[in-house]
Amino acid sequence: MAEERRIEDLTLLVTGGAGFIGSNFIHYMLDHYPRCKIINLDKLTYAGNLDNLKDVEKDPRYEFIQGDIRDRELVRNIFKRVQGVVHFAAETHVDRSILDAGEFVLTDVYGTFVLLEALKNSDIKLFIHVSTDEVYGSRDKGYFKEDDPLCPSSPYAASKVGADRMAYAYWVTYGLPIIILRPSNNFGPYQYPEKFIPLFVTNALEGKNLPLYGKGTNVRDWLYVEDNCRAIELVMRRGKVGEAYNVGANNEVQNITIAERIVDLLEKHKSLIKFVPDRLGHDKRYAVDCRKIHALGWKPEKEFDKALASTVRWYQENTDWWQKIKEKSKEFKSFYEEYYRDRK
Ligand code: NAD
Ligand code: DAU
Repeated sequence: MAEERRIEDLTLLVTGGAGFIGSNFIHYMLDHYPRCKIINLDKLTYAGNLDNLKDVEKDPRYEFIQGDIRDRELVRNIFKRVQGVVHFAAETHVDRSILDAGEFVLTDVYGTFVLLEALKNSDIKLFIHVSTDEVYGSRDKGYFKEDDPLCPSSPYAASKVGADRMAYAYWVTYGLPIIILRPSNNFGPYQYPEKFIPLFVTNALEGKNLPLYGKGTNVRDWLYVEDNCRAIELVMRRGKVGEAYNVGANNEVQNITIAERIVDLLEKHKSLIKFVPDRLGHDKRYAVDCRKIHALGWKPEKEFDKALASTVRWYQENTDWWQKIKEKSKEFKSFYEEYYRDRK
């Protein structure tokens, strides 16, 4: 194995740090690396939320810049001040990409291109590109390896492939220090309540229906967000430049099982679960082979049932956090109806 990189004293740019995984990652880094510094560049789209970072906003090691990754001048200037980049910023919700893919192309593909161009003209030593396991598409059996063909199904996943391959091309063509991560479905605190687990937990707490797509038999591999942050940390230390790493927890669960566990944990009635028309092009199953990152020394630590229970508890104990989001966002209220209106 190549010599470990020292990341203790890095000044790091985190893009999309006000979102779900980004804010968890910033907390993780500030907790574990007393000498690191973090600049968080986030546009604060509907998914960005500074409440996620309230406890660190006065930390002298942390700086927030509201801005767009597509702003070339801004990005170029920030790149002069950092030694590493962890790139999370993206449009991330599959259902939204089905309604309108435009922002996905502009942010996920073009935004990544702007960052890569700035990287080309900088002294930055490490650029971690956060991709997704959705780039491979769906499969009924077996596991995708990092060098399998990419066959995305949703406009979101296709835009992530564009970004993933653009990052790879900048390594091949210019030798830039880029590493790609492809994590599976994350869950945990601070996840925007349009995604499956926080939507179902918060709806159940509000006594609302839990809209389960199709037959509820689709399978996802659930990864606790802190385990994903540890994977990013490890890849920053030991990952090989130019490589992609799958990150999964081998927690394959059908959606219906998760819905039932959520109502059980909240002591609600199962009748809250409502089967609704399926998501268009709904991927049946995601599953990734993680031997490559295991060989670097990473394994998920959180046991799924315990992590789900603690996640449910977090949403129970932080009602202000999600109620504010649900109240603020008019589009949130109409999103589901709009999605199905034309298909009934
Ligand atoms: P999120 O939607 O919660 O957060 C995205 C963040 O990016 C928000 O804070 C938003 O304001 C910011 N952003 C969006 N467009 C921007 C722009 N143009 N400039 C600057 N900031 C912008 O997303 P997440 O779930 O935390 O996902 C983070 C990354 O991880 C994404 O790249 C996503 O594709 C990837 N990923 C997510 C999961 C998951 O399960 N959540 C799994 C695998 C990979
Ligand atoms: O696999 C990684 C990906 O996981 C990330 O790249 C994406 O950013 C992230 O959004 C997530 O994509 P999914 O489509 O798998 O996540 P979502 O939470 O939207 O849905 C999870 C499963 O639950 C999926 O099979 C669809 C289903 N679902 C979702 C919602 C929102 C429902 O049955 N009902 C719902 O209301």
